[in-house]
Amino acid sequence: MSYKSLPKVELHTHIEGAAPPDFIRSLAKEQSVDLSGIFTEDGGYAYRDFWHFLEVYEAATSVLKAPQDYARLTRAFLENCAEAGVIYVETFISPDFCGGRDVSAWRDYLSAIQDAATEAERDMGITLRGIVTAVRHFGPDAARETARCAQETAGGFITGFGMGGDEKSGTQGDFAYAFDMAREAGLHLTTHAGEWNGPDEVRAALDDLRVQRIGHGVRAFEDPALVERLIEDDITLEVCPGSNVFLGVYPDLASHPIAKLRDRGVKVTVSTDDPPFFRTDMVKEYENLSRQFGWDATDFKALNLSAIGAAFCDDATRARVRKILETQDV
Ligand code: ADE
Ligand code: ZN
Repeated sequence: MSYKSLPKVELHTHIEGAAPPDFIRSLAKEQSVDLSGIFTEDGGYAYRDFWHFLEVYEAATSVLKAPQDYARLTRAFLENCAEAGVIYVETFISPDFCGGRDVSAWRDYLSAIQDAATEAERDMGITLRGIVTAVRHFGPDAARETARCAQETAGGFITGFGMGGDEKSGTQGDFAYAFDMAREAGLHLTTHAGEWNGPDEVRAALDDLRVQRIGHGVRAFEDPALVERLIEDDITLEVCPGSNVFLGVYPDLASHPIAKLRDRGVKVTVSTDDPPFFRTDMVKEYENLSRQFGWDATDFKALNLSAIGAAFCDDATRARVRKILETQDV
């Protein structure tokens, strides 16, 4: 069956990571910047491994120069999400890339993104919420400035604070101050952990940053006591199976622990992370999971209800989206 029309909730995307390669290529051309090295012959993004991926990601992002570029990006991103049946999506947005962590510039970027999101909601019925995101390899001082941007714009569209980037750089605990600032501003918290490092990284995220959700978190599966803790503490994992397989965290979907985590009782959700970088979208993710693990529309409905339960949104939005999911016949 096609999963295209099934309403979906997606909790883990990076706004720049959702930029269609053609969009970045045309911005580069307008600015006479040579980015030919970051594209494959067939028009995708080219990189060797995760660390090179981060470099290519930042090179692509370098041509997103103005709030208006982010407005166009938001529109393109939400059109693709809506096309895959996504009705509610959260995206990571970095003040590092949007105004160099200057609060006033950040406000301008955010306002452009929000205007585009409001239009997309009107035209396509898709809801977007933003998670302000620190980039781990930019260090704890930059993360504090990022948290300051988050504090200044918390509420309404901005509902969360998170961290992505190179998991091998520093420790989760190095960023505790930034996460404390965000918590005090009333933001929900998540961090990438247990993608490249093992279970200790996930434990550090819970102990040192006190997050409610974990980006990826899949390597927690290697430690049964930690799996129990995820269940007891009601932690939701933002799992991105296609991303993990494409980047080589697991050699194939058969080896991926998402089904085992779910069967043990961990709250797992499904997201695309950076869809064009991993040649994926939510329909492909569902088709692959269905083929590999036999999941059907009933499983995906439960998964989406779990995702909206863990979404960083207000109760009225949650109730509205939940109603759409619940009224689907499967
Ligand atoms: N930034 C964008 N995608 C990421 C990923 N999969 N892990 C860490 N940082 C990222
Ligand atoms: Zn991510």
